[in-house]
Amino acid sequence: MIEKINDLLKKVEEFKPQAADEIEQFRVKLLGRKGELNEILEEFKSVAPELKRELGQKINALKTQATEKINTLKAEFENRMQETPAGDALDMSRPGTADEIGSRHPISLVRNQIVEIFTRLGYVVAEGPEIEDDWHVFSALNFPPEHPARDMQDTFFIEKNPDILLRTHTSSIQVRTMEAQKPPIRVICPGRVFRNEAISYRAHCIFHQVEGLYIDEHVSFADLKQAILYFAKEMFGEQSQIRMRPSYFPFTEPSAEVDVSCNLCGGKGCNVCKHTGWLEIMGCGMVDPNVLSASGIDPQKYSGFAFGMGVERIAMLKYGVKDLRLYFENDLRFLRQFESAL
Ligand code: PHE
Repeated sequence: MIEKINDLLKKVEEFKPQAADEIEQFRVKLLGRKGELNEILEEFKSVAPELKRELGQKINALKTQATEKINTLKAEFENRMQETPAGDALDMSRPGTADEIGSRHPISLVRNQIVEIFTRLGYVVAEGPEIEDDWHVFSALNFPPEHPARDMQDTFFIEKNPDILLRTHTSSIQVRTMEAQKPPIRVICPGRVFRNEAISYRAHCIFHQVEGLYIDEHVSFADLKQAILYFAKEMFGEQSQIRMRPSYFPFTEPSAEVDVSCNLCGGKGCNVCKHTGWLEIMGCGMVDPNVLSASGIDPQKYSGFAFGMGVERIAMLKYGVKDLRLYFENDLRFLRQFESAL
């Protein structure tokens, strides 16, 4: 029996756990109800009375030593865990937790899809600064000086300098492209834009646009119509149709607003298309000769078309989202629905 006790004492001394779990297992095995110490105590009952004193002391010593060691080790492990930022880096035995895989934001998905469709038609992506000057956002695009878009109501100006502002559309990228390149030009311009609008279910002060520009000799309105029809079919389905309504933009002449047939009711009329069968998707037109000249392109020789659309709007129509603000709230319950999209 004395040997058993000595053995256990040695075990306690040599115990070197690698993980927190091992300490508790060790405690149960030694001090638990069916543990080794209780086994010894059981035997102790039948020990000869003259040996009881010495053995009793030994057993007590074993119990105290084991308890102390276990408590110190437990405290040590806890401290170590708190010291590491993850709290568990040193416990090699703990099971790992898998990182959650994120998904693309619906706005990114739709922007990428728009870009990809036009890339197939030979367009290349062009980007530009979000903080712009008056020339690239307004003047070069034929906005008259008194045009309301230049008003504080619509445009965010930087530091009261009316020349420096946040771009209100990505047409500024098209101006930069025309200044830097000679025709033929075929660019698609995705980016964030900023307008001083009250936030509601259908408007936000920050949103995303994709605009396109095609300039070459003999580019006609028929080319524009064909490009937009191709886009509509690729984005909303083969059965989609488009119609163009006359409109006005300072930088295009003639200008049009494009509607696509409602993909929810197939054109019969529903809540989403307000019973018209049509959904407005973009603005477009033939580039105004003044705009070509302003960027150093000869309007006698070249013509072109431009179009521009809001990514949030296209995404709302595509996914049937009724409130534009959802795109900005980053509520995972909303975003997770697009995990498998595209
Ligand atoms: N720039 C216009 C807007 O922001 C869209 C547009 C682009 C319209 C090109 C016509 C041609 O609303």
